Amino acid sequence: MGRLPLFPDQASTFAPEVDHLLYYLLVVAVFFTLLIFGAIFYLAVRYRRRSDQELPHVHHTGYVLEIVWSVIPFGLTMVMFTWGASIYMKESRPPANALQINVVGKQWMWKLQHMEGQREINELHVPLGRPVRLTMTSEDVIHSFFVPDFRVKQDVVPGRYSTLWFKPTKTGTFHLFCAEYCGTKHSGMIGWIYVMEPDDYARWLSGGIPGGTLAENGQKLFSDLACTNCHHADGSGRGPTLVNVFGRPVKLADGRTVTADEAYIRESILQPNAKVVAGYQPDMPTFQGLVTEEGVLSLIEYIKSIGPKPAAAPETH
Ligand code: CUA
Repeated sequence: MGRLPLFPDQASTFAPEVDHLLYYLLVVAVFFTLLIFGAIFYLAVRYRRRSDQELPHVHHTGYVLEIVWSVIPFGLTMVMFTWGASIYMKESRPPANALQINVVGKQWMWKLQHMEGQREINELHVPLGRPVRLTMTSEDVIHSFFVPDFRVKQDVVPGRYSTLWFKPTKTGTFHLFCAEYCGTKHSGMIGWIYVMEPDDYARWLSGGIPGGTLAENGQKLFSDLACTNCHHADGSGRGPTLVNVFGRPVKLADGRTVTADEAYIRESILQPNAKVVAGYQPDMPTFQGLVTEEGVLSLIEYIKSIGPKPAAAPETH
């Protein structure tokens, strides 16, 4: 069947699912628009006032009719709700074996970095058929990462991490947009996603890596910022050890327990006194202004690399 040029390409596993839901919404909307406007015109003509003396008959409510026209639309809207919610849940849960990419938005460009250290601006190379998970933040204002061909869109907000994932089903070049007005050159904050055969991707990735992996850069930053003075690996320092901390529960001085995820690590670097680990003094200085968002992301990768390994099934190539 020929595709309507109104629709973008279907290039991720989400694309057909989102489109099927959209078709359902369109069919329901068109059907009821025709039904309601048809009824308005038909009834206006059929029951028009024929003379000045004519008075309307009093009709009593038909309960069957009222129940029917309440229950059917309720059912149709509940289908919309559950269908939409199930796609939403799927889109908000990246698989554990996803390829991790860091994204930093700023006025007016997308900065992307692969775990192997490759950096890209307004371009992202990914392999075909592998889930890709983006961890995204902004250096300034709210942006929104939007790839119509993949049917994914997610706000990129300063001061927090948002995630987005997709699994490309087609090789090719797909448009990336910023979908949140972010200033003068918002419309120029665009780019391309290149979906490549896995072999081509591996070749691309190995071509000219500038400086080590993200975790290695994070390790270097960790010692450049003198974090090592207090965070000793064996826990003998003034700060807690960071070995094996990522993804684990952490007991705080105020009695709470939190999970050491990306957001927690970021906060502990920029606002160290927000969550003080039980048994330690709140004497870590803030690194706000001393380390960029990209620096924070590489520090997180370093801390992940000295943490427990994820229990995800090994990738087969
Ligand atoms: Cu960034 Cu619009």
